[in-house]
Amino acid sequence: MQTICLSRLGRWAGLGLAVTLLGSMPLRSQDFQPEVLPLPPQLATYEEMSVPADNPLTPEKAALGRQLFFDKRLSVDGSRSCYSCHLCEHGLTDGKPKAIGVGDKPLKRSSPTLWNIGYHKEFYWDGRSPSLEPQGAAAWRGGNMGAAGKENEIVARINAIPGYKKQFQSIFKSDATVDAIFKAIASFERTIISGGTAYDRFKAGNKKAMTKQQQAGWKLFQDLKCNNCHDGVLFTDQQYHNVGVGMEGDKADDAGRFDKTKKIEDTGAFKTPTLRDVTKSAPYFHDGSVKTLEEAVDFMLGGGKANKFLDKKNLEKRKATPVQKRQLLAFLEALEVNCTLTAPKLP
Ligand code: HEC
Ligand code: HEC
Repeated sequence: MQTICLSRLGRWAGLGLAVTLLGSMPLRSQDFQPEVLPLPPQLATYEEMSVPADNPLTPEKAALGRQLFFDKRLSVDGSRSCYSCHLCEHGLTDGKPKAIGVGDKPLKRSSPTLWNIGYHKEFYWDGRSPSLEPQGAAAWRGGNMGAAGKENEIVARINAIPGYKKQFQSIFKSDATVDAIFKAIASFERTIISGGTAYDRFKAGNKKAMTKQQQAGWKLFQDLKCNNCHDGVLFTDQQYHNVGVGMEGDKADDAGRFDKTKKIEDTGAFKTPTLRDVTKSAPYFHDGSVKTLEEAVDFMLGGGKANKFLDKKNLEKRKATPVQKRQLLAFLEALEVNCTLTAPKLP
C-alpha cells in the first residue's frame, strides 16, 4: 500500500505546473486540476488514504482517469459515462430516485456521491466491493454501462484513439487494457476531494466561515448524536446501519448489507452516506424514496422506521423545535462543495 497524505496531494497542482514549464510531458496544467484545493490544516493532517501498491497515484494517471471518467465512448452504446450518474450539479449523484443504466433500464439503487471516496474502505451502499479498481470495472460491465461481453471491442475503440493510446503507452508502457483503464479511473477518483467547505474553514479556525445559525446547527448535530454514524471529517463511520429505509414491517425491500455478509442482523443495513454536498443530492436514501432534505432530516430525527433490525443503539427519536430543524438544515448547507469537476478535453 502506498499511503497518501492529503497535504501531499495538495502539492500536485504545483507539480502539474512544474511539468508544464519543463515541457517534458504531454501534460498542460489546465488538463490537470485535482479536486484538492484549498486544503485546511485540519484536513491536511487527516487520516491517510490507502492506495494499492500496484497502482501508485501520479498526476498523469489521474489526468487520464479524468478523461475516461467523462468519456461516453466507454459505455457499450456510447450513451453514458461515469459522470452521467455522478454530476456536479447533483452533488456527484444523478438527481434521480434510482439510477438509469444503458438501454434506459432502471438500476436497483440511487447513485451515491463520490466526495472523498478514496478514503472509503468498502464500496457501494452494501460495501460489496473492496477497492475502487474492481468497483469501476463492475460499474462498466454491469447495467450502468453495459460492457459485459463487449470488453475487447470497447478497449479496441479506446486504443484506436491516438491521444489515448499515447497516454497509456507513456503511463502504463502498454496499450489500454481493462486493468489499466480502471487503474487510471480509480486514480482520478482518489483526487475527488472535498476539503474547503464553510465547515472545513470554520474547523480550521475561521470562526466567521459558518453563520451563527450554522454554528448552532453544528452543535445540535453533535448533541443529537447524528455523528454516531455521520462521523468525523468524512461525515460517515463507513459502517452499515438499518435506519428503516425500504423496510415493510420486518421485510426489507432490498436486503442491503445482508447480501454481502449473509448475517441476518445486517438485513436492510446500508453504508452511512457522507453528508458533504447533501443539499444538492436529492432525492435521498439508497432507494431515493425521500424527495427533500427536510424530510430526510425529519426521518432521522424521528428515529428511523421501526423494524426488528433497526439500529436502536445508535439512532433514537430526538426532539427538535422548528427553529432547531432550521439550524440543522443550515449546518448541512455549510457542507456544500464548490464543485470544480469539469469535463476535460477528450482525445
Ligand atoms: C447509470 C448510472 C451510473 C453510472 C454510469 C456509473 N455509476 Fe457509479 N454508481 C451508481 C449507482 C446506482 C451506485 C450504487 C450501487 C449500489 O450501491 O449497489 C454507484 C456507486 C458507485 C461507487 C461507490 C460509492 C460508495 O459510496 O461506495 C463508485 C466509486 C462509483 N459508483 C464510481 C463509478 C465509476 C468509476 C463509473 C464509471 C466506470 C460509474 N460509477 C458509473 C450509478 C452509476
Ligand atoms: C444509526 C446511524 C445514523 C444516525 C445516528 C443518523 N444517521 Fe443519517 N443516515 C444513516 C444511514 C445508514 C443513512 C442511509 C440510509 C439508507 O439509505 O438506507 C442515512 C441517511 C441520511 C441522510 C440522507 C443522505 C443521502 O445522501 O441520501 C441525511 C440527510 C441524514 N442521514 C441526516 C442525519 C441527521 C441530521 C442525523 C441526526 C439527527 C442522522 N442522520 C443520524 C445513518 C445514521
